Amino acid sequence: MCGIIGYIGSENAVPIILDGLKKLEYRGYDSSGIAVMDNKGFSVVKQKGRLSELETAVNARPISGFLGIGHTRWATHGEPSDINSHPHLGSQNKIAIVHNGIIENYKQLKERLEQKGIQFVSQTDSEVIAQLAEYYHTGDIMDTVIKVANALEGSYALGIMCLDDPDKLIAIKKDNPLIIGVSDSGNFIASDVPAVLSHTNKVYYLNDKEIAVLTREGVKFYNTDKEPLEKHLETITWSIDSAEKGGYEHFMLKEIMEQPKVLHDTIQSVLGDGDNRRIIDSLDITNFNKIVITACGSAYNAGMVAKYVMERLCRLPVEVDLASEFRYKDAIVDQNTLVILVSQSGETADTIAAMREAKRKGAVTLSIVNVIGSTIAKETDYTLYTLAGPEIAVATTKAFSAQLLMLYFLAVKFAAKLGRINSEQAEEYFKEIASLPDKAAKLLEQIDFIQMYASTCVGYKSIFFIGRNIDYAIAMEGSLKLKEISYIHSEAYAGGELKHGTISLIEEDTLVVAISTNESLYGKIYSNVEQVISRGAKVLFIGNCIKAVPDEKLSIVELPKINDLFSPSLSVIVLQLFSYYVAANKGLDIDKPRNLAKSVTVE
Ligand code: G6P
Repeated sequence: MCGIIGYIGSENAVPIILDGLKKLEYRGYDSSGIAVMDNKGFSVVKQKGRLSELETAVNARPISGFLGIGHTRWATHGEPSDINSHPHLGSQNKIAIVHNGIIENYKQLKERLEQKGIQFVSQTDSEVIAQLAEYYHTGDIMDTVIKVANALEGSYALGIMCLDDPDKLIAIKKDNPLIIGVSDSGNFIASDVPAVLSHTNKVYYLNDKEIAVLTREGVKFYNTDKEPLEKHLETITWSIDSAEKGGYEHFMLKEIMEQPKVLHDTIQSVLGDGDNRRIIDSLDITNFNKIVITACGSAYNAGMVAKYVMERLCRLPVEVDLASEFRYKDAIVDQNTLVILVSQSGETADTIAAMREAKRKGAVTLSIVNVIGSTIAKETDYTLYTLAGPEIAVATTKAFSAQLLMLYFLAVKFAAKLGRINSEQAEEYFKEIASLPDKAAKLLEQIDFIQMYASTCVGYKSIFFIGRNIDYAIAMEGSLKLKEISYIHSEAYAGGELKHGTISLIEEDTLVVAISTNESLYGKIYSNVEQVISRGAKVLFIGNCIKAVPDEKLSIVELPKINDLFSPSLSVIVLQLFSYYVAANKGLDIDKPRNLAKSVTVE
């Protein structure tokens, strides 16, 4: 949901900012812009459309400077257009800003400023920040930033340049992420680490209402009372390669293929001696009479899988709520409820709100997060980090798989602690989970068949996914993945529900993807398969207990054997590849699907 970057140093800021924006494009990609400062003032280029359009515009009208800010946008207020793109400047062209977030009181502020004769040029909420800054500015940029921050309601991560302070880049944030990178050749602000990783792996994570003042030489931090702050410099251990395509056509395919390694690393973090193990072991599940999992999008689907696994193993009620619903429903949670927040980014606005609501009601909160130092990771009582590394494609794959693993581990550990399973059984389950990386690698060998099959599916208007129990939960993720990136309508149904309505939609050559990993339910799902085939459907049958033989209506992808509790980690790989190749065959922009953004930091 918008990406920002800024640089001050001894090099030309323009290529650094354009390169950084490429790494942030996953956060929004409907328009972009750059502003640099030189001794004559600001040079600004803003362009509707993909980043490549901005690059073309910059090449046509070269600009340069040792201080600059850039922005890639996902529009919230005002359509994508050149004028609504960031950076925004005040009317006196004295202060330039880039903003990620939403200013909730922008209308009131705008009206006030307009009454004072200030003319706005864009429809954005963000312009009000630049105009307000100029209005307040009397010479000291720190004072100005503090006044602006005090006046703003909503969320923001800001990069600010001021002509009166040509040697400073200022940053402040509230409820949106911002990191500060430091290097010998200059210093950076950015929404996310990959944007600076080709220059430095040394970063600070900015907390809410902390101000960073960057100069060529270094960075200083202050609170809003202008008191200096000491902050811890972190070293990023993952390499720039993990944020590059590495020869794959799309990040999504690369990230799908990385899953055996991600599964392995995440398993080690629990079965080895890391923080994740210590944190899980310190959590006493016997204190709770209910678990609530709340999340958005795919993370919610991971929660749906976990409900089946946890309830079966722990015999404890598990509710799964969309975070956007949980936050407003007056949820029944208290100090005896463990609320689990699942989020790749740790910055999803609805999930943050759900977390705060759960805490307000006294619940104990545990998060499963991929991005280190993110808001959810920082604010929950317990934090488990998935080890997926940076995920760039908007449609999540490897982070989802890592979330599933962490939830399986919680289920087994909780079941053991509750005395529902004994230590031998727990060991058996851990062994099964530990076998997943090799089985995932084996499954990826079937990529050619899935690719070939998907190439025959581009013409479908609608595709259905069915399964029962855990297979139904993972069918929901398969359906979401397909519609996100291929723009084909799809729905997931519990196999037993077909007859209650959906079967009326089945006609000649409808495609149904059926999943079967629970031997005891095979007969039931197979009769659903027969029901749809007899009404003309074609079926892609994915499972590890399939007894049917393929024919012209029925194609089969055989999964490696695994306890059905953990089978979603394998079936999802087939579903991801299927969606990927359908979209690839349609020639779509897979890593940046229309209208979506990876990290949804607005409501
Ligand atoms: C967006 C992404 C989804 C993701 C969801 C939740 O909608 O496109 O892929 O599952 O946000 O994101 P989170 O970062 O909280 O897991």
